[in-house]
Amino acid sequence: MMNDQNKKVAIVTGGGSGIGFAIAEKFANANIQTIIVGRDEKKLQSAKEKAGPNCFIMQCDLSNLTEIPVLIENVVAGFGRIDILVNNAGINMKKDFTEVTDADFQSILTTNLCSVFAISREVVKQMLIQGGGNIINISSMAAQYGLPKVIAYSATKTAIDGMTRAMATELSPKGIRVNAIAPGFIKTDMTAKALDSDPERKSKVFSRTPMGYMGEPADIGDAALFLASDAAKYITGIVLPVDGGNSIGF
Ligand code: NAI
Repeated sequence: MMNDQNKKVAIVTGGGSGIGFAIAEKFANANIQTIIVGRDEKKLQSAKEKAGPNCFIMQCDLSNLTEIPVLIENVVAGFGRIDILVNNAGINMKKDFTEVTDADFQSILTTNLCSVFAISREVVKQMLIQGGGNIINISSMAAQYGLPKVIAYSATKTAIDGMTRAMATELSPKGIRVNAIAPGFIKTDMTAKALDSDPERKSKVFSRTPMGYMGEPADIGDAALFLASDAAKYITGIVLPVDGGNSIGF
């Protein structure tokens, strides 16, 4: 742990892989002390080694909601402040509508939505003491249009967009900007799982993406760094698609 008063402090959930790691890497390279939170200590450790000395790790399974207040207390104790929170951790499940059990639905809801609320609440308590901060939620194309076989995921990501707007209206007057990024189809483990076994879905993705190719995790990293910076100081409550045009593609 380190307490360098000259550097901003960020938390990136699910920062051990994929989009979260790319965001953490951009932040760390921009001299932001970046704490990546995830479940797998080994994965976090190797991510930290790649992201360099501004990267720190804290292990937590965010679906255990009761662990979240302690996690945030530990961050504040170690770093003194929290300037940026990126709610990136998420899980997906592809199943026919009628095959999804109540337990399946609840488990996606807990990780993708309830934990985002719980960690945001705890972080906002600290941001209010500091007089400001910055929250970025990671949404999805599943909140922009209807996608089959991802009912629980779609419900959570659509709720994230609503929560982003509600939080922005309540918290922006207090100096806390809240925005979301809606990634299009980005090359990560999650999309490999969802698309490699489903060539029809994959060709649909390409056919309705005007740029014609999938994005890189770093594309989302750049957008997050922008939204977290003063260059975006008059932007709050938006859902920014970073999608090669997928959301407006024919
Ligand atoms: P990923 O599976 O590579 O990364 C997700 C990360 O979240 C992993 O590091 C995982 O360990 C962590 N995580 C999951 N459950 C957790 C829990 N209970 N506690 C702590 N950490 C947990 O997936 P990817 O693609 O990088 O996804 C990141 C975010 O971007 C997710 O919210 C996803 O819904 C969203 N997204 C991704 C898209 C894509 O094309 N890859 C498209 C749209 C949205």
